[in-house]
Amino acid sequence: CGIVAYVGQQDALPIIIKGLKRLEYRGYDSAGVALLNETGLSVYKKKGKVSELENSLLNNGFLHSKIGIGHTRWATHGEPNDANAHPHFSANEKFAMIHNGIIENYEVLKTDLINKGYKFHSDTDSEVFINFIEDIHKHNDCSLEEAVRLALHKVVGAYAIVLMNKEEPDTLIAARKGSPLVIGVGTDEYFLASDATPIIEYTNQVVYLDDYEIAVIRNNKLQIKTIENVEANPYINQLEMELEAIEKGGYEHFMLKEINEQPRSIADCMRGRLDAQAGRLIVGGLRDYINKFQNADRIIIIACGTSWHAGLVAEYLFEEFARIPVEVEYASEFRYRNPVINEGDFVIAISQSGETADTLAAIELAKSKGATIFGVCNVVGSSIARATHAGSYTHAGPEIGVASTKAFTAQISVLTMMALMLGYQRGTLAESKYMQLLNELEAIPAKVEKALESNAQIEYIASQYKDARNFLYLGRGYNFPVALEGALKLKEISYIHAEGYPAAEMKHGPIALIDEEMPVVFIATKDSSYEKIVSNIQEVKARKGKIIAVVTEGDTSVKSMADHVIEIPATHEALVPLLSVIPLQLLSYHIAVMRGCNVDQPRNLAKSVTVE
Ligand code: G6P
Repeated sequence: CGIVAYVGQQDALPIIIKGLKRLEYRGYDSAGVALLNETGLSVYKKKGKVSELENSLLNNGFLHSKIGIGHTRWATHGEPNDANAHPHFSANEKFAMIHNGIIENYEVLKTDLINKGYKFHSDTDSEVFINFIEDIHKHNDCSLEEAVRLALHKVVGAYAIVLMNKEEPDTLIAARKGSPLVIGVGTDEYFLASDATPIIEYTNQVVYLDDYEIAVIRNNKLQIKTIENVEANPYINQLEMELEAIEKGGYEHFMLKEINEQPRSIADCMRGRLDAQAGRLIVGGLRDYINKFQNADRIIIIACGTSWHAGLVAEYLFEEFARIPVEVEYASEFRYRNPVINEGDFVIAISQSGETADTLAAIELAKSKGATIFGVCNVVGSSIARATHAGSYTHAGPEIGVASTKAFTAQISVLTMMALMLGYQRGTLAESKYMQLLNELEAIPAKVEKALESNAQIEYIASQYKDARNFLYLGRGYNFPVALEGALKLKEISYIHAEGYPAAEMKHGPIALIDEEMPVVFIATKDSSYEKIVSNIQEVKARKGKIIAVVTEGDTSVKSMADHVIEIPATHEALVPLLSVIPLQLLSYHIAVMRGCNVDQPRNLAKSVTVE
């Protein structure tokens, strides 16, 4: 979900609405605002997109207020409808609150409150939360912030909250645990948001609230204290993000913009780290942990979704070049299955947003067992970036499209650099090969540019298969995770059922699905398993499947078998995923557009999943 709040001299509503639109990629099933002026504290909320809320407010006449809170929701408790949308009023309508996260013990709290006579208008845990605060406020005869502080000792779960009090028109109260909250510090004004994107056009001075901290903005002053009531000093960070980076820049969708940005985002990721001519490769984030990394007994990679696919590519890289055993784990499974973790384990957590709840919890678990944790995140200052011992940012720039594209290739770029650096230092990667790989890696951005040139051809292929009901994606070796990623992209944005499989495993199951209706996407680049995958293509061909193949430039044998071939430039096989994923991103994009789907905000999905 997304949070925006404002207090200052300007009209709050337009700032909040604009901010919510920027945050809509975090959740978009309902939206709402609370405003406070001479007519009192009012809440307006609605099922649907922020623009629907905006239109309904325009019909209300202009609502002036110098303070306000706003929310865009991704439903957890209770279906998306007007009542479940945020903000939520407390029963006495004195307080309004927006909440991200999940309160795990809400049923116990709710039963207690019902016994005390409270009535609920929604199915949300958030409404329970605000009434729990109200109840404490009433019984302790204390300030609202004190009631919040006391309440936070009792609630179990994750939250980022912002509250308004009808009686204090100059005050916002916020708190966080496990769900991000950024405070923008302007001149005589403050902005709060779940990430910096709604803030950057007003100020580049931000404070990241920490877990168990409460922020009180009152009378134009910011005060931070912990839930133990210990005052903390707000540390002001300078944001380096630019406004242009979060706007569409002429593209029809963020996803298309982000796909096309990859030559630059990969180059940005390697900038200052790789200089092939000088034979230099330094992943600075590893500096203090290089010994631990080099001598690790095992590397454990934890991630979710697309980041997990980047982790799979890294497994091949680390094992091939550094000869250290690797395990790649879904964070959600890892954290709940009593995993064996030792001090000699080097854990790499991969997360674009740096906020994924399962990944964060898995990190805490591994940390508690003494492992060293290294983060690979895209969002600077994010929770995971701060929870890890060390890390490297992917520097892909803000990714707004829900389906991850440029963050994926940037993650692979960082992981490749880590693997090469590690292999070289451990002596498991010979100098000549290392040098060759550095040169190949440096050439990748230009080759991605080349791969993007197939766009028109891919659009044509998309038009031929847009009505398919199923898709199969097959690859081997380094291209196996790419097959998974290609299938995930298609599922996410076009709602076509797609499966990714290791090509050789096809004969143990998916081959039963193949008939003349089934498009099969092969990633069949010229590498060590080329001959094998050509046989797999023949097996599909013999069963009349439709073959779309991603091949290395100049390939002729696959061309003679496939219905369509998409060429990508040649590179070292370990670097192929950075190129072979590009046509698959474009294929899913065009199919989704042709099917009339909302590419940037696919149904039911959210960009950053801060609930488990
Ligand atoms: C969500 C997004 C995916 C993403 C996954 C992990 O499901 O929709 O695109 O891959 O979360 O997110 P992270 O930010 O941890 O990489």
